[in-house]
This record gives sequence, C-alpha cells and structure tokens, in this order.
Amino acid sequence: MKIAFVKPGTAAPGAVAVGIYQGLQQTAAARQLDRKTGGALSRAVSVSRFRGEVGDILALAAPRGLKSRSVVLVGLGKMTAFDGLAAERAAGALAAYVLPAGETDLAIEVDAPRGSKFDDAIFAAHFANGVRLRAYRFDKYRTTEKPDQKPRLAHLEVHTADPAGARHRYAPLASTTESALLIRDLVSEPGNVIYPVSFAAQAKALSALGLKVEVLGPERLKKHGLNAMLGVGQGSGHEPQLVVLHWQGAGTRGGAPIAFVGKGVTFDTGGISIKPADRMEEMKYDMAGAGAVLGVMRALAARRAKVNAVGVCAMVENMPGENAQRPGDVVRSMSGQTIEVIDTDAEGRLVLSDALYFAHSQFKPRAIIDLATLTGSVVVALGYEYGGLFATDDKLAGQLLAAGTATGEKLWRLPLTDHYVDLIKSNIADWKNDGGRWCDAINAAMLLKQFVGKTPWAHLDIAGMAWTRQDRPTIPKGATGFGVRLLDRLVADSFEST
Ligand code: BES
Ligand code: MN
Ligand code: ZN
Repeated sequence: MKIAFVKPGTAAPGAVAVGIYQGLQQTAAARQLDRKTGGALSRAVSVSRFRGEVGDILALAAPRGLKSRSVVLVGLGKMTAFDGLAAERAAGALAAYVLPAGETDLAIEVDAPRGSKFDDAIFAAHFANGVRLRAYRFDKYRTTEKPDQKPRLAHLEVHTADPAGARHRYAPLASTTESALLIRDLVSEPGNVIYPVSFAAQAKALSALGLKVEVLGPERLKKHGLNAMLGVGQGSGHEPQLVVLHWQGAGTRGGAPIAFVGKGVTFDTGGISIKPADRMEEMKYDMAGAGAVLGVMRALAARRAKVNAVGVCAMVENMPGENAQRPGDVVRSMSGQTIEVIDTDAEGRLVLSDALYFAHSQFKPRAIIDLATLTGSVVVALGYEYGGLFATDDKLAGQLLAAGTATGEKLWRLPLTDHYVDLIKSNIADWKNDGGRWCDAINAAMLLKQFVGKTPWAHLDIAGMAWTRQDRPTIPKGATGFGVRLLDRLVADSFEST
C-alpha cells in the first residue's frame, strides 16, 4: 500500500472518508462533503445508528455530486478525547470496512480537533499508521483465492494541512510498525516452518541493519550449563538455539545495555504432560516473547536508537519424544540452582530461568525485561485487555506502565512479594516448576525472580496479548505483534541518551 500525505484538494476517485465526532459534530471536511452532496450525508446519518463513536462506520455508495465511488463516514469518538491512539482505532475501523469492499483507493482528510494539544501532523500520521496496522494480512499460504476476493487497497491519501509535518511524524511510526508486522508474520508461521534453527536464521538476516547476531547451539549451551532450557528441548528433533542480538547504538561509552529476554517455544505440545488437542494448534504462538524481542531489536537498529541493548531469544520446541524429560526430573540450571519438573507443560519458566541468568551473568545489564506467553493463569486474571507486569523495581514498572498507556499495548502490575515463595519450594530440589492450582502467573514469576540477581527486572506475561481470536481495531485476528511498539517506546522515553 502506498501512503501519501497531501494538501486537501480534489477528492480521489475511490472511497473518500470523512470523520464525525461523537454527538455527530462534523469535521470541516464532513461539512464540506455534506454540502457538495446536497445534504446526503446528514440524511444518511439521521436514518442510521451512526453516533460518531470511535469505529462507527456508515458508507454511501456512488453519492450524487461526487466523482468518488463511495463516501465513508468514520466515527472519531469524543472530540476532547481524540488523540493519536483514537485516530489509529478510527483508521483501523475504516480499513476494516474498505478492505473487503474491494476499494483500491482511499482518501481521508484528518485534522486536529479545535483546542487539541496535538497538531494536524500527528493525527494524519497516526491515521495512516492505523490503516496500515489493520490492513495487515498473513496470506502467503492461500493459493486459491481469486483476485476479486482479496483486499486490494493500494493507495491511501491522507489529506492534511501539514503534509511535510505529517511525513516527518509518520516516518518513526512506520518504521516501528514495519518491525511489528514482521513479527506478526513470524508468529503466524506454523511450527513446521519456524523452529529454533529457522528462527535463528531469521535473526541472522537482521545483521544487515547493523545488529550483531550470535547463535549458541546445543554444545555451547551444554558448556554454559543451560540444562533447564536443554531439558525442555530434549524431546524434540529440533535442536535448541539461544539467539543473542547486540545493538550498540550508544557506543562503548554508552555503558551497560538494557537486556530483553524472550520465551521462544516454537511449539508447545506440553511435552509428556501433554495438552488436550482442542486449540493446541495455537501453541505455535508460544514463541511470541522471543518474536517481540527480535522485533524491538530490529526497531532499535532501524531507527539507529542511541541505546545499548541486547536481545536474548531462548528457542526450543516442547515435544513428547522418546528422550523427552519426565515429570519428576530434576535439572541443574545455569545458575546452579536445581528445579524439579513437576509438569513438563510449565516449560516456559524452565527455559527462561536459564535465559534470564545467562543475560544477567553475561552482560551485567542495567535492567532486564522478559516477555513470555507464560501462563494461562494471567489470561484468567486479566483477559485480553492487559499484559501482566511483574517487577522488582518500581521505577522500571512505572516506565513500562507509561509506555503501555502511550502505545495502547497496556500492562497491569501484579504482585511479586516473598509471601508467595513457599509455593514453589520443592521437596527434593531448590525449586519446582508448578506451584499448584492458584495464582500460577505469580508462581511462575516468583521462580523467574530467582535467576536475575539484583538486576532491576520486569517480566511481562503476554499469554493473553500475543494472539487474538477476534478482529480488533488495529489488529486483524491472529498474531498481534504485542511488545514491539511498547518496548520501542520504553527505550525512546526512558533509556535513550539524547
Ligand atoms: N504456553 C503455555 C501458556 C499459555 C497458555 C500461553 C495459553 C498462551 C495461551 C505454558 O507453557 C503452559 O502450558 N502453562 C501451563 C502451566 C501449568 C502446567 C502449571 C498453564 O498455564 O496451564
Ligand atoms: Mn506449556
Ligand atoms: Zn508454553
């Protein structure tokens, strides 16, 4: 899709969209079109349920007095609440209407509402970003779809009073979005295509952007003693890989890096504690934490961020092969602490205990943030609205919460006090990987906490956020790319030197 920012002028021949605020306050562009069509817009609104709420859509085909194929009214929500994220949601709803309708050209005029603290350029840029996020489609495996069944949106024209400013605002958004969409692709790929070695190959390709990429295979992992991670992978024919990405954007004098660590279980069958078949196919997204780490590292490199960062993707497949680990096995982690494997399906915390300790001990980072589709329990607690945030450091937690609010990739903090630690003490080892029926998201986080020493650390349990079974305003159903925009924003606001 080509995106152009231009001054308002003659409407394109395709679909023309105009915004209307809640309470049916027309934007200037809407008023103008209403006049040109002899009041057709306001008549259509008056006989419909269109209220101007964010995402409301009302379309008129071939309106008299215009060359356009159609006019689409887009609800923008409350005028006083209209901001960049609302613009993205409205744009997403517009895209969702226009794409299946088969339109090839879409034009929209977007301006800042009166009295807004943001300028025209910001709204135009976010609007374009919202269309792009929603227009994403993973269709490389569809072979029989006819061209007239496919979405065909090829040109988006955003009319704005400040095209140059909009282009300037759009560039960084577009760059981060590109990384997020690439990660949607990776997470959407099935387990027979993305497994640890093929994921590592994808990571290596990013060296073209200036990232240094290192891959540790089973031998080196054994030497370093990452036995908790290796134990998870031993039932699979695909060998584990630890993928390490370095971005030295602040140079040698920039000091210790910020570390991102991702759970990369390319497929989670549960192992010997095997999962039920229903919806098991979705467990290809159990590498979304590692995907987000890859995505944020790519985003930082693409915009030459002035930060030192290291990304650690811990890649394994959890399969019930003949050599699979058993419930009751005890593994000695890289840190030296031992863990009893009560449930082979609680594999993420085993993998991460080593990946976290590796990041902590090898890179002495200023902070560690891990992302993991770790527990069903966090979905029970927070649903699909917030990712679970656990942190040993209040400042880091605050920075993450703020980045979540700013990007719409929202987090909610959950407790991590030592009251919970008894639940994960084993009868025969230091720890066990299952703390019983209740508060499993906390139990898992408590285990991870034992492997980061005193490094400020935050853990994001994104089991409910990495995948969506329903279309959302800026995310079609499937992989969400959650975490890329969030962490890119965190770095920009709190970790980048200026
Ligand atoms: N990958 C799953 C968690 C998950 C569940 C992610 C649903 C996305 C959606 C994880 O490895 C797992 O299986 N967790 C178990 C832990 C239990 C066995 C202690 C769970 O949550 O049921
Ligand atoms: Mn599991
Ligand atoms: Zn898992």
